[in-house]
Amino acid sequence: MLRPKLIVLAVLVCVGLWLSWGMAIAAHSLEDQGTIPPAHHCALVRWLRLGGGPTLASLARGQDLYVGTAVNLKALERDRQYRRRLAQEFNLVTAENDMKLERLQPRRNQFDFSQADRLLAFAADHQMAVRGHTLLWHRAVPDWLEQQDWSRAELMAILENHIKTVVGRYRGQIAAWDVVNEAIADDSTLRDTFWLRGIGPDYIEMAFRWAHEADPDALLMYNDYGGEGLNAKSDAIYELVQSLRSRDVPIHGVGLQMHVQANAAPSSQEVAANMARLADLGLQAQITEMDVRIRQPSTPGDADQQADIYRAMLQTCLEAENCNTFVTWGFSDRYSWVPGYFEGWGEALIFDQDYRAKPAYHSLLNLLADYSTSDANQNGAD
Ligand code: XIL
Repeated sequence: MLRPKLIVLAVLVCVGLWLSWGMAIAAHSLEDQGTIPPAHHCALVRWLRLGGGPTLASLARGQDLYVGTAVNLKALERDRQYRRRLAQEFNLVTAENDMKLERLQPRRNQFDFSQADRLLAFAADHQMAVRGHTLLWHRAVPDWLEQQDWSRAELMAILENHIKTVVGRYRGQIAAWDVVNEAIADDSTLRDTFWLRGIGPDYIEMAFRWAHEADPDALLMYNDYGGEGLNAKSDAIYELVQSLRSRDVPIHGVGLQMHVQANAAPSSQEVAANMARLADLGLQAQITEMDVRIRQPSTPGDADQQADIYRAMLQTCLEAENCNTFVTWGFSDRYSWVPGYFEGWGEALIFDQDYRAKPAYHSLLNLLADYSTSDANQNGAD
């Protein structure tokens, strides 16, 4: 009987707190700046579990795991439900597009950090870590850069300036940087890009060295898709990072993007073996952009098949000695890039269009809960 009374008391105290903040300044503007403590931040409510059950983020903390998602900054601004879910479920964010070169430097030497700063402010308000994505990619290169003939020296100066300005600005605030993104092509050779043509193959090592100079403590990653399991592409990625390591280039890990199909995902064994060989090189492995796309229209078994893949990949990360980060490329099908990019595919994320949790969400939550329980049992046995 004591507990219901405590719950009522807690609600009253929290409502009182909420109202007193609200009298000072209009509520919605404060909430956007993160100044009002949202309900789940009230310690009493949290203690009594009034804010609901466990979330991915609350369970991840016990596993020293970052469970993250890419953020659509427009949705963050406009969609209250989006903000709420994001704050509840994740302890790491990355910008889906707003830290790419064309966004951060839309004109030569004129940087626009407004959106990236908003993301970092949201992350700080909600005690979330941030991944930086991405310093160098063959896409998202603005016209001013791509449509001019630069000398090698000029292009190197532009790249060095971009990397040092961006990494320097956020020094100490980024958990890991995707320094180079997708430099290996699908035929496993170095991708023929603007950067390769203009600078030569050593553009990769230069990018890592400049990033390291700008933030010597930052974790610097090579990030790519299609090389999650064991195949020609992951071999090529392995050889690239091995060669960088052997020349003392400051690289600390490999991001496995994990944009996969529900009917053709890599096996846990392969991904585990790939992570293990990276660990042997002294490198971290992270799952950086996971989504599991389903052929449209979907059929009844698809959501469960998708859930099994999400679960298997999170478990592989948890079991690997060098994986502490699991990031999905968005969280609600409302904003996923998949239908626009892969024609005939969709439903790739863990919440549906209306933020209802899908089997994939429950599979991740249950897996983390299982790990917490088995940790608790082990500690009890000690
Ligand atoms: C995608 C975004 O999701 C889209 O909104 C954008 O139009 C194109 O880029 N690999 C990456 C990401 O490293 O940056 C890509 O993001 C998805 C594939």
